[in-house]
Amino acid sequence: MRFVFLPPADSTAGLLSLPWQEPIGEWTDDRLVEIRQRGLSRHVVRFVAEGGELFALKELDERLARREYRLLRRLREVGIPSVEVLGVVVDRPGDLDAVLVTRFLDHSISYRALFASQRAGPPADRLLDAMVELLVRLHLAGFMWGDCSLSNTLFLLDAGALAAYLVDAETAEMHPTLTDGQRRYDLELASERVGGELFDLQAARLLPDEVDPIEVAEEIPRRYGALWWELTREDTVTKSEQRYRIAERLRRLNELGFDVDEVELVDAGEGSKLRLRTRVAEPGHHRRLLFKRTGLDAQENQARRLLNDIAGYRGYLERTGRQQVPEVVAANKWLAEIYDPVVGAIPADLRNRLDEVEIFHEILEHRWFLSEQAGRDIGTTAARDDYFARVLPSVPADLTAAVGTPRPPDPRGAAADEDIDAEVEADLTG
Ligand SMILES: Nc1ncnc2c1ncn2[C@@H]1O[C@H](COP(=O)(O)OP(=O)(O)O)[C@@H](O)[C@H]1O
Ligand SMILES: [Mg+2]
Repeated sequence: MRFVFLPPADSTAGLLSLPWQEPIGEWTDDRLVEIRQRGLSRHVVRFVAEGGELFALKELDERLARREYRLLRRLREVGIPSVEVLGVVVDRPGDLDAVLVTRFLDHSISYRALFASQRAGPPADRLLDAMVELLVRLHLAGFMWGDCSLSNTLFLLDAGALAAYLVDAETAEMHPTLTDGQRRYDLELASERVGGELFDLQAARLLPDEVDPIEVAEEIPRRYGALWWELTREDTVTKSEQRYRIAERLRRLNELGFDVDEVELVDAGEGSKLRLRTRVAEPGHHRRLLFKRTGLDAQENQARRLLNDIAGYRGYLERTGRQQVPEVVAANKWLAEIYDPVVGAIPADLRNRLDEVEIFHEILEHRWFLSEQAGRDIGTTAARDDYFARVLPSVPADLTAAVGTPRPPDPRGAAADEDIDAEVEADLTG
């Protein structure tokens, strides 16, 4: 038996004592956790709590496990939202299949939980947007999913919207770029799978009446097409209008939640005309920025929201203190004086209903809402208390799936990761 895990391996070390010589479907270990509302799967998938963290274990053919391991690593490297792979267990006795170990995606919501709860309005719309964005990002990066379905996607709340995460990469393929045919294939498959899954929910009476599976399924290629076109189209502009046309294009892409890496202007060969092309940057610009300034790990919209709040707070500090305040200083003060007191006051029994940043975001919204009603700013403390008393308790306890305890950042950093990656590859292929 061989365990091949990425560092830091101290938390995964506890997994070594699981009964690996038996098929995971037969385990009875008391560290096993049942996840209600989980997606449907081909393979046996089980969840284990160990050392304060939660792991997902999937038993599958070694070749497939190796392949999925590699693809999941690659997806995270290029910044595409996907579950984090930690390792594989191979060469198990008695010819047992390999086991792929991923970190459980905390606070993730499956499509089943999403439709069951209907919190914040009908989910179909937000769900479609999130899925289509994930598919477009994958395709732009040269990945064909080959198995895009609701069961293979997990959702995280992102400042009221949803962010889609890829959970199953077993059939994915990596190419330098995709052909139109490959993209079409992926889309047709997605449409068909999603339609089927919604029909299943309907048959089980879990789908709200107003959601029509066929309509939703047909909406996927439509929204995908619109987004793809916006992101990849080439405009022809004249030299005199180029400045404002570029600004307009960038603003539009930003509105759609995309950042732009490169703007390319090429002579269109017709005198004063230019062709304008843009290249979309890796997702997560605001996330990275927020993390750098505060150490908070958030989704993209959440991060944008928090950065705005920090900017507003910095303005306030500068006005009242009558001097300039550096960005880092403002961010740290904001953490200590605004953010921490709010999340520190979350009642213990409600702490796991939503992730911390989403709760903070909802309190900001709630403050705005209450202030409007009152005709004056009621302040964060009053909004917070009212939110904890009246809003948070109404979030279903099982909307988001189980959570492990937060783990400290990896002191070894990304460089060490890469070395180990090579080692894992060698070990896996050797
Ligand atoms: N890391 C993870 N975090 C949260 N849920 C997970 C994770 N891995 C798997 N799951 C859940 O288990 C289900 C099945 O996993 P998946 O990888 O799709 O298996 P299969 O290849 O058999 O389809 C998913 O739909 C999801 O609900
Ligand atoms: Mg699956």
